[in-house]
Amino acid sequence: MPPMKAVRFPRLTTPRLVLRAPSERDIAAWFARASDVESASLAGDPVPDDISAGERWLARSRQRFADGKAIQWSLDQAGVSDAIGTITLSFATDAKAAALGFVLARAHWGQGLGSEAAREVVRYAFETLALEQVTAEAVARNSASLRILAKLGFKHIESFIDEADGEHCERFALDADVGSLASNAMPDC
Ligand SMILES: CC(C)(COP(=O)(O)OP(=O)(O)OC[C@H]1O[C@@H](n2cnc3c(N)ncnc32)[C@H](O)[C@@H]1OP(=O)(O)O)[C@@H](O)C(=O)NCCC(=O)NCCS
Repeated sequence: MPPMKAVRFPRLTTPRLVLRAPSERDIAAWFARASDVESASLAGDPVPDDISAGERWLARSRQRFADGKAIQWSLDQAGVSDAIGTITLSFATDAKAAALGFVLARAHWGQGLGSEAAREVVRYAFETLALEQVTAEAVARNSASLRILAKLGFKHIESFIDEADGEHCERFALDADVGSLASNAMPDC
């Protein structure tokens, strides 16, 4: 039995963003983001060889949603034609927790948009999905990610080395009772 089988994709909004289901029109923008070597390194993601990887990204994203394994949103910003990034909840097998991940296109870094999207998804995870915990991992040198997680109230769990690339990484968790308070208390970015 899949943990979080959803019938309809949950569209979310924030003051500056619409979080919606990924579609074919996102493939080129996804490929551009994924091909940014520094961004991929910070996110711990592989750099795709060619745009056919974008078709596979979309198919996998849709399949994981259909199977109740993850929700991955594309992020639209008013006045910007392409999606500016993605944000993802990947569910644990017990359906009580999910891992949070996010990637924004470089042109949109540093405007508080990552914080804004993450806060809304954490709110959704606790208030709508009633998860007990949201977890996150970040490369230790990823200051922006660490800052977003700290602002939302995530607590450091442990440091570890990613065996795939030797990177120093940090693992975090946010429990429902703390997370609801932190996401409600934060001012708009
Ligand atoms: C991580 C990422 C999504 C952040 O999004 P963003 O919209 O640029 O983040 P925000 O503008 O909301 O800023 C987050 C915080 O980090 C701080 N920050 C950003 N860059 C920083 C840096 N190099 N050093 C220290 N702090 C930094 C910001 O000042 C902000 O803190 P503040 O609100 O207290 O001022 C974006 O940088 C990204 O996509 N990076 C590449 C992929 C990636 O790393 N994904 C995350 C994997 S865990």
